Amino acid sequence: MKNIVLIGFMGTGKSAVGRRLAARLGRQFVDTDEEIERVTGRTVAQLFAREGEVRFRSEEALVVKKVAARAGLVVATGGGAVLTPANVETLKQNGILIGLTTDPEIIFHRVRRKKDRPLLNGAGDLQTRIKEMLAARADAYGVAEFTVDTGRHGQEETVELIVKYLQ
Ligand code: S3P
Repeated sequence: MKNIVLIGFMGTGKSAVGRRLAARLGRQFVDTDEEIERVTGRTVAQLFAREGEVRFRSEEALVVKKVAARAGLVVATGGGAVLTPANVETLKQNGILIGLTTDPEIIFHRVRRKKDRPLLNGAGDLQTRIKEMLAARADAYGVAEFTVDTGRHGQEETVELIVKYLQ
């Protein structure tokens, strides 16, 4: 049984939808960011701050390999995991890539309260930053074979749309 791998920008709901989808299908859920934190004993924010993005990405690539070596999981990836082509290849070998997306305004409202996303904490206007990053990453998220807009569909509905697509 292939893994179901959720990809998409920060704040599109990968972790929340992934957890619900896993419960709905009776599958095990793995969140790559949580797994990185478990393995390294540091939060994502600490890893970025103390050791830099390069170290974070190398831990992410290791976790991607580990989850791809397993089967039948629901996996929520970090928003930057599919920026690395090797990660995409690895995840696709044993996984169906499902995209979550939504409008920059909705992402802005979802992420602005949380201070744990290092790539959004930089100087400058958060709304502009989100728009720029979304545009720069549009192609990367295009590798999903099915995509749901979580601004138009609630979490339960998103889960059902994914389940229906997979049938
Ligand atoms: C990142 C997204 C984050 C986390 C890290 C980098 C990104 O995950 O992996 O801060 O590059 O988009 P979420 O998408 O779960 O916020």
